[in-house]
Formats: sequence, structure tokens, C-alpha cells
Amino acid sequence: MVKKKVLVTGGAGFIGGNYVQYMVNKYPDYDIYNLDLLTYAGDLTKHRDIETNENYYFVKEDIIDRESIMSLFENEKFDYVVHFAAESHVDRSITDPGIFVQTNIMGTQVLLDASKQIGVSKFVHVSTDEVYGELDFNPKTFFTEETPLQPNSPYSASKASSDLLVRSYHETYDLPINITRCSNNYGPYHFPEKLIPLTISRVLNEEKVPVYGDGKNIRDWLHVNDHCAAIDLVLHEGVNGEVYNVGGHNERTNLEVVKTIVNTLNKSADLIEFVSDRLGHDKRYAIDPTKLEQLGWKPKYTFETGIAHTIQWYLDNKNWWEQIITGEYQSYFEKQYSF
Ligand code: NAD
Ligand code: TYD
Repeated sequence: MVKKKVLVTGGAGFIGGNYVQYMVNKYPDYDIYNLDLLTYAGDLTKHRDIETNENYYFVKEDIIDRESIMSLFENEKFDYVVHFAAESHVDRSITDPGIFVQTNIMGTQVLLDASKQIGVSKFVHVSTDEVYGELDFNPKTFFTEETPLQPNSPYSASKASSDLLVRSYHETYDLPINITRCSNNYGPYHFPEKLIPLTISRVLNEEKVPVYGDGKNIRDWLHVNDHCAAIDLVLHEGVNGEVYNVGGHNERTNLEVVKTIVNTLNKSADLIEFVSDRLGHDKRYAIDPTKLEQLGWKPKYTFETGIAHTIQWYLDNKNWWEQIITGEYQSYFEKQYSF
């Protein structure tokens, strides 16, 4: 039997990294290629348990490097591409949008051209609910796949642009694609610049936790394992050309999230510090996942079980995040926050 070859881009990052491990373990009969540039957000130490597996390969490459990507695709003839590689942090996109345009838009176009060239069987583009812009605080309103794209940050604008390119390669060249748009993820190996891991690591170090504005903005949290299962399902069962929203109805205000972490770790609420609001801060995200549920997906975690699991993971894996919150991260933190 000829093994399927799956290219995962961004597999040294948070979600891509969890997805690589999920695929390597679930499909011993697939060859999983992890392609990553290893930017500040990528690290390979998370893959120590799988790096000697026979079905795991790592390729250090920049998705913008057209020549190298084209020749890699020509040599390896991948069956599937699951595309995570991106600049992913909204705050960084506010201070430096250029790299978001390059990686998220131009890099996606290179991968689309290479996928078209060799005729892959499926290209899954991992996108975000942030492309829909923001919702108001009416709890009955949700993002559906029909919600117009109205991105507000340079990050979400770059993701929306890449979504449109992916769609166009299906409409124009009949490339078999799916686009997934997931809500905020959390779980193991989440880079500590994002709200949940930032809060856990700082609370554990008894350091102040910055909450933007009044802390009432709402995000819809999904455990990363549930996201991985959703992408797996879409890869194998998704109808070509379709978009699938991914979310598990776990809406929480930022303040609720931070207080849950502080309380679980038995620390003082005095650690919470309200700071200046993010520019263009989206009020609320909330996903209607009906279409994906009809395909057969159901999340396993509630926010309560997922956050307990995640906090425990950060307690058990201090070595991983302690090596990250030094060096470049420190200077980022000092520039971003005033304490
Ligand atoms: P991340 O920042 O943790 O990881 C991104 C990875 O991409 C890193 O390993 C980085 O080294 C790699 N990368 C960056 N530029 C590259 C380049 N030019 N060439 C090759 N590799 C490059 O991101 P994440 O949180 O894991 O998000 C992964 C994807 O999921 C992104 O496309 C993001 O838009 C999307 N997404 C994220 C969330 C979330 O809550 N984090 C929610 C929905 C969708
Ligand atoms: P983040 O984890 O950056 O994800 P996203 O911007 O993609 O939703 O932020 C989640 C929410 O937490 C968002 O409303 C901004 C807020 N936030 C803070 O209040 N303080 C922080 O230090 C950070 C990083 C985020």
C-alpha cells in the first residue's frame, strides 16, 4: 500500500504542533512532514517524543521561498497539505503589519501554486473566526459560514486575504480546498504571549497580569485537541470548496478567564492589572458550529475541563515555558506592556 504523504506547515507552533502529534500517533500509515521556519513562535523541543518515529519528518523552510517550496513539492508529491504556518498574534500585527502580509498572504499563495502544480488531493487552510470581525454583546448572535468577512486587525485582514486566495484557487483552478475558521484555542504548548498561557505563567511567577480595557471583551474558547479532531475530519470528509466554522460554545469574558486561572492556582486577585485597551479591540467572537457538527464533529472538552487540564499541563511542563520567557520574549514584553 502506498503511504499518504501529509504536509503540515507551521507544525513547530502551537496548534500545528499539537496537530502533528495527533496525526503521527493516529495514522502510523501516513508520512507526516512538518515544514516550519522556526520563527520566535516555533520550537521543536515539543516533538521529542515523536522525532524518531518512522512516519515523522521535519523540513526547515520559509513558505515564502517559492523556489524551495516548488522543488520540495515536486520531489515529495504530497497528497494532502494542512496549512497552519502564519504570524498569529494580533498585538504584533498592530506594531508590525508587514510580516503578516508577507507570511500569511504571500506565503499562502506560494503553497497554493505548489499544490496546484502537483495536484494535491486536498488543501486545508486553517483560518480564524477573526476574519468575520466582531459581534455585539447580544448572546444570540453568532458567526456562521455566511457571515461577511469584515476583519478589523492587520492579523485578521491578512488571514481574510489568504482565505479569499484559497477560495479563488478552488473557483478558478478547481483545487480541492477547505477553509476552517476556528475560535480562540488554548491547551499545551500555547505560546505565552497569548492571554491564557501568559496569565498562567505570570500568575505562577506571582507577576502582574495585564487585562486590556475593562476585561469585558468575549472570546469563544476551544481546547486545541478538539480543533485537531475537527481539522482531521475536514481533511478526510470535508466537501471540496466548503468553509467550516469550529467552536464549542465556550464564551467567557477575558476577566472571567483570568479570574478562573488566578482562583485555580490559589493566588490573589491583586495580581490582575487593568491596562490600556488594545487598538481596534474586537468586542466579541462566538461561533455557530452547526455545519461541522453535521459532518460528525463534537468537542470533548468543556471550558472547565479544558482549562483545568491546561493549567495542570503548565504546572507539569515549567521547563518548556520557562525557556521561552527569556531573551526575545522579555524585550517583546517590555515594549508591549509598561511593567
Ligand atoms: P503559532 O504562532 O503558535 O505558530 C505559527 C508557526 O508558523 C510557528 O511554528 C512559526 O515558526 C511558523 N511560521 C511562521 N512563519 C513561517 C514561514 N514564513 N514559513 C514557515 N513557517 C512559518 O500559531 P498558532 O496559534 O499555532 O496558529 C496556527 C494557525 O491557526 C494560524 O494560521 C492561525 O491563524 C490559526 N488560528 C489560530 C487560533 C488561535 O487561537 N491560536 C485560532 C484560530 C486559527
Ligand atoms: P489573545 O490571546 O491575544 O487572542 P486574540 O486577540 O486572537 O483573541 O487575546 C485574547 C483576549 O485577551 C483579547 O480580547 C485580548 C485580551 N488580552 C488581554 O486582555 N491582555 C493581554 O495581555 C493579552 C495578550 C490579551
